[in-house]
Amino acid sequence: MASITIRNLDESIKQALRERAAQNGHSMEEEARLRLGQTELAESQPIKASASSANYDASLGDKRILLIIGGGIAAYKCLDLIRRLKERGAAVRVIMTPAASEFITPLSVGALSGDKVFSDLFDRDDEHDVGHIRLSREADIIVVAPATADLMAKMANGLANDLASTTLMATNKPVLIAPAMNTQMWNHRATRRNHQTLLSDGIHFIGPNSGEMAESNEAGFGRMAEPMEILGAVQAVLAENEGPKPLSGMRAIVTSGPTHEPIDPVRYIANRSSGKQGHAIAEALAQAGAEVILVSGPVNIPDPKGVEIIKVQTAREMQKIVETALPADIGVFVAAVADWRTVKSSDEKLKKKDGKGPSSLKLTENPDILKGIGHHKNRPKLVIGFAAETEHLEKHGKAKLKRKNADWIIANDVSPETGIMGGNQNTVHLISKEGVESWPKLSKQEVAERLVERMVAFFDVETIEI
Ligand code: C5P
Repeated sequence: MASITIRNLDESIKQALRERAAQNGHSMEEEARLRLGQTELAESQPIKASASSANYDASLGDKRILLIIGGGIAAYKCLDLIRRLKERGAAVRVIMTPAASEFITPLSVGALSGDKVFSDLFDRDDEHDVGHIRLSREADIIVVAPATADLMAKMANGLANDLASTTLMATNKPVLIAPAMNTQMWNHRATRRNHQTLLSDGIHFIGPNSGEMAESNEAGFGRMAEPMEILGAVQAVLAENEGPKPLSGMRAIVTSGPTHEPIDPVRYIANRSSGKQGHAIAEALAQAGAEVILVSGPVNIPDPKGVEIIKVQTAREMQKIVETALPADIGVFVAAVADWRTVKSSDEKLKKKDGKGPSSLKLTENPDILKGIGHHKNRPKLVIGFAAETEHLEKHGKAKLKRKNADWIIANDVSPETGIMGGNQNTVHLISKEGVESWPKLSKQEVAERLVERMVAFFDVETIEI
């Protein structure tokens, strides 16, 4: 049987082969072998170049990918992953953990990536020449595959004691991880915690998939995603991060959820706010590129992605955190802050006094956080408040706009029959000096996205130079 070297093929044939391989999800070698087989059998025509193929994906042409290979049996799949990334024009650099080298050799990895393989934090040459900071900064994306339970734990806890973990700590680029481990390890409470932490840190995940484990007779979640799936995720994450985001460089403070005002060690004053709307706004702001500080009262929903979250109990704690988070460009005050707190909460649980009826609570007013920030000397350029009302929405909203010196008030009807408080949908009215705009019933995520679009437009108008 004849053999050909792809490297020596004419450029137009290589291009055609690359397109066909991408279309069919094959490597170039596989595609060539398939084509040659077909040619032999059917005596068909040689492959014609067709640079106009609609499906040809050249999106990695100018991309630099740093691949961190962890120590797991799935490491062998990274050889194929490197080939597929390179076929699409990406420059691939590789860091191998010491454990990874037990499964595949740096020699084969280096041969495929066409670059030096990095592994030692204290390699004098590497530190002098490239080093972990440069390794992390000179990439468009970092891919960790296989991401072992150990690597995930290090990432979630900020450990930095080798080249892979220091690079991951030092990076300011998107990170995509492809976990691979035994099902029991994936389901272990510690890995579940780390998974949640990494998600809320904005780490992207692909897989793991469900299937047979390397250990005999074991199956379940824990198989690393296939190279083509990882490739797809790389493209998706890069597309998401393409270009500057509309609120890049801006800082936003968002309050969310209820506050709990203690009566005694076991009782508190609260309300039915779920935090869903505030959290959705924080996440939408982060997706638009803003640096977001979310100050949240006690809620039972997951932390939004890509934001710094500070959890508080009381209105006074919330106020303190918000004030120390200044200066900011945007302040969105969504929290349903309790209007009153007890003058003094009891250190001991209050007891019933038989026959004497309930004791009355002495209340005092809580600080108005929005009003304080609206009049603050470091007032954010855009201050947005919410008005949860059960009647006279517009009238009360307009009065609030003035009293709290806000730019916009988002008013919503929280009468029990609307199901808005705690629900997943919201019907809001945007009240500003210009007037009132009523939005249709939307999911809280949609309200958040629309509101962020309006914020982007606000700053666009603000920055027009005459
Ligand atoms: O006065 P009212 O509670 O209706 O105002 C609602 C708006 O004011 C919301 O944006 C809420 O987050 C904010 N607020 C506050 N601190 C308070 C009370 C309300 O920030 N103590």
